[in-house]
Amino acid sequence: MNDPNGMVYYEGEYHLFYQYHPESTVWGPMHWGHAVSEDLVHWEHLPVALYPDSLGLIFSGSAVVDWKNTSNFGSIDKPPLVAIFTHHLMEGEKAERDDFQYQSIAYSNDKGRTWTKYESNPVIPNPGIKDFRDPKVIWYEASERWVMVIAARDRVKIYSSHNLKDWQFESDFGMDYGMQALWECPDLFPIKVEETGEEKWVMIVSVQSNAPNGGSGTQYFIGDFDGTTFTSDYPKEKVLWLDWGKDNYAGVTFSDVPEDDGRRILIGWMSNWQYAQEVPTKKWRSAMTLPRTLELKNINGGLKLCSSPVQELEKLRGEGVKIEIGEAILERSVDLVELELAFNNEAEDYIAFVLANDIGERVQFGYDARVNSFFVDRKYAGDNTFSEDFASATHYAERSQEDQKINFHIFIDHSSIELFADDGEMVMTETFFPDEKFDRLMIGTDAELVEGKMYELKSIWTE
Ligand code: FRU
Repeated sequence: MNDPNGMVYYEGEYHLFYQYHPESTVWGPMHWGHAVSEDLVHWEHLPVALYPDSLGLIFSGSAVVDWKNTSNFGSIDKPPLVAIFTHHLMEGEKAERDDFQYQSIAYSNDKGRTWTKYESNPVIPNPGIKDFRDPKVIWYEASERWVMVIAARDRVKIYSSHNLKDWQFESDFGMDYGMQALWECPDLFPIKVEETGEEKWVMIVSVQSNAPNGGSGTQYFIGDFDGTTFTSDYPKEKVLWLDWGKDNYAGVTFSDVPEDDGRRILIGWMSNWQYAQEVPTKKWRSAMTLPRTLELKNINGGLKLCSSPVQELEKLRGEGVKIEIGEAILERSVDLVELELAFNNEAEDYIAFVLANDIGERVQFGYDARVNSFFVDRKYAGDNTFSEDFASATHYAERSQEDQKINFHIFIDHSSIELFADDGEMVMTETFFPDEKFDRLMIGTDAELVEGKMYELKSIWTE
């Protein structure tokens, strides 16, 4: 699998579709796999939702609830789910044409269980751009229109529609903005600034290469949107990263989360195109990140998009242990764990976490005061022979806050770590493949531990 697709909340269920090749552990003819969850934590696998057809493979895209039945695929009483995706025609790619990606739609009237493709697909033909994909659609209330963002090589194209079938080009955003590389999987949404309640618009764009620690990564822009045009508040060359780890790509947010909930929830694909197809796994091939709530916060006089693990994950907490002050060098046996720690780093010291097993493999992560950066080092974390890009260097994320207090919220799974620091301003998501399970966690530092909690986590599959 790769990208998350069509994430939408409808009648009590979160739907997660995803790029899926059912016959192999490497990329191939793409389908939309499908899973649903009532709580964002426990997921049920459902049959493949969309199969390739004569128009092509089913690439990434989004889904919406068409509440007003603008598409006429359902009724006002029973609004349809509409999926908007890219058709990718292999024959066209092989013939080296540049018109083999175009946007199509499908609908469901049974809570996403079965899908019918629209008979007049594609709804947006290719305008002569080789990379023209990953439509994400939102409802823009002020003009009562659907708005679509599409990745088009070095920019995002914005379209609008009354009915999800007839689309009109509105504007381009990008070109020389942000990180230059192949742009993919955009998202666009309004979000309120935490402190003031002011509404801003955020555009998320994944870049296939040139991420801060190499390979694929996700940048974002903050600005305004008037229904037709997005304008960024920051200078063109400013690059803001959603995650500094190597394994969070193609993330987008859920559509139709109820207003009384109001969260903007993102899930990303926990891999990187540098090695996604070579990682040493057989029965599974990559996973999604934990769902994350996005918040726009004013930090050091500038706005930042911060991520935190969704609160529902607290359901997985088993026994909690308080890690006492003065016990800042410790060793615990662990399996699946969540850590919430705050340090007062007056000593300006290293804060080092080591996750280890009995055969000498280890992942080291934490904060390195010498370079004022958070870091993940997976050089000795097990098999890394499959790609030079996987672990040849330590991965860093420079800290932007000056407060001596540093907080961490960390999730450790058998093959991944999701590290949120400084209240989610800094995130590092990284995978690893030890030959034996990591079962020991050590923390070493001279910084004062002012708050420390550790929870064993239950598996999401065993309840
Ligand atoms: C991003 C991506 C998308 C595309 C999909 C194909 O990882 O390259 O741009 O739609 O994967 O599987």
